[in-house]
Amino acid sequence: MAESTSEGSRDRKPVDLLRIAQMHRAGEKIAMLTCYDAAFARLLDEAGVDALLVGDSLGMVIQGRAHTLPVTMDEMVYHTACVARGNRSAWLLADMPFGSYQESAEQAIRNAARLFQAGAQMVKIEGGGWTAATVHELVVRGMPVCAHLGFTPQSVHALGGYRIQGRDAGGAETLLRHAKELVDAGAQMLLFELVPSALARELCAQLPVPTIGIGAGSGCAGQVLVLHDMLDVTPGRRPRFVRNFLEGGASIQEAVRRYVRDVKSGAYPVDSLHGY
Ligand code: KIV
Repeated sequence: MAESTSEGSRDRKPVDLLRIAQMHRAGEKIAMLTCYDAAFARLLDEAGVDALLVGDSLGMVIQGRAHTLPVTMDEMVYHTACVARGNRSAWLLADMPFGSYQESAEQAIRNAARLFQAGAQMVKIEGGGWTAATVHELVVRGMPVCAHLGFTPQSVHALGGYRIQGRDAGGAETLLRHAKELVDAGAQMLLFELVPSALARELCAQLPVPTIGIGAGSGCAGQVLVLHDMLDVTPGRRPRFVRNFLEGGASIQEAVRRYVRDVKSGAYPVDSLHGY
């Protein structure tokens, strides 16, 4: 496996926002995976994953629900604390679940603080437009934010299912406007889900902060996958953009190291398999 500064991470320095910005500037891809418990946090950290996301996808992969909407703040706090205990050096993000930030900036501040107290180093909020003001209120209080655009799973009912976003000129323009507003509001990272690869590449090139893609092709500064998807243990159909990294390998550790290696080298993802 090719050596890189982030691999072989038993002795790596903790990944922080400065390191992530440095990776972005240097063109070193950022490898992120979702994580929900201490044992996997330790395994992923030791395999060289740069950032762990305690995603509200736990509603689906851990709790067996149809979507992420029922996930509560208490559940997110619990899983964030579990991951924080197992993690040593990866950057740790946690999702703000549905209903935890939509009401007011005060509500968002109160709930984000709970995730930071549980060990998160950055929170992720879905949506653009109205969320910019909330992002600003969090960032000025010292709480870093990743803004999630494109397909936003908490809006699955409004979006009519798992669909690629920004396919037409109007949709693409809105995405770019929202992304710029969020960066101006202080978001230090953006995540694009289910966006056409050419559009994602253009957005990422125009934005000054690191961008993470999922189902958005290879043009972003980094990639994230749901852990259970890339190990192929999620029941049901696998989205087109997901690769089974366990296939042909000997262990979960090896699968995760292959994921890190392939994200860093650009071998994963391939643009022809973006989208759902
Ligand atoms: O909840 C989650 O796992 C996510 C990823 C799909 C990016 O938000």
